[in-house]
Amino acid sequence: MIDRRDAVLRYSRVAMLFHWTIAALVIVNLAIGLLHDAIGGMALHKAVGLTVLGLTAARLGWRLLHRAPPLPAHTPGWERAAAHATHWTLYLLMVAMPLTGWLMVSGGPMPRPTSWFGLAQVPPLPVGRAAGGFGHEAHELLGWLMLALVLLHVAAALRHRVLLRDGMLARMAPLLDR
Ligand code: HEM
Repeated sequence: MIDRRDAVLRYSRVAMLFHWTIAALVIVNLAIGLLHDAIGGMALHKAVGLTVLGLTAARLGWRLLHRAPPLPAHTPGWERAAAHATHWTLYLLMVAMPLTGWLMVSGGPMPRPTSWFGLAQVPPLPVGRAAGGFGHEAHELLGWLMLALVLLHVAAALRHRVLLRDGMLARMAPLLDR
């Protein structure tokens, strides 16, 4: 007999939409950020980054009003703690990365508005050179942390899908049955 507490519960459609949209934008921005010397694309990077900030604010509001589906009852304590820590650190970075980028360009030598896909101009923050320098250092450091956590998060999802085959990925994947 199936223990109902162990049934795999899924995230809502809205939560999935937020997750996959922001995931795609963050991956694009990590790639442009790390490769910009070779491939350029900084205007796109800044516009995508500001989009991540707006979407993350909306997502956090949504998340605080809607509980995540509980993990299956048999999930070990270490795995609950690791998932919790990774998810909330990723939320923190989805806010901190755009903010430190914005801080960096605002406190740079020539602060000027950032174009959001040519549709709007986002003004620089009212900060000085020291804050800009801090933003630059933090943006680089947190960028590596974010890359490491995204890889860890993907590896954990693949472990559930390929090794454990326990339907965990289907909680967040609209196209998977289980
Ligand atoms: C999801 C949001 C963002 C992510 C994941 C991200 C990621 C990165 C990464 C990984 C780098 C390379 C850092 C390094 O040199 O090692 C970078 C560079 C940069 N980012 Fe972002 N970024 C985001 C948002 C923004 C925003 C909103 C702005 C500005 C409005 C911005 C401006 C810049 C600039 C100017 C650089 C080049 C720094 C340099 O030349 O050393 N970023 N970003």
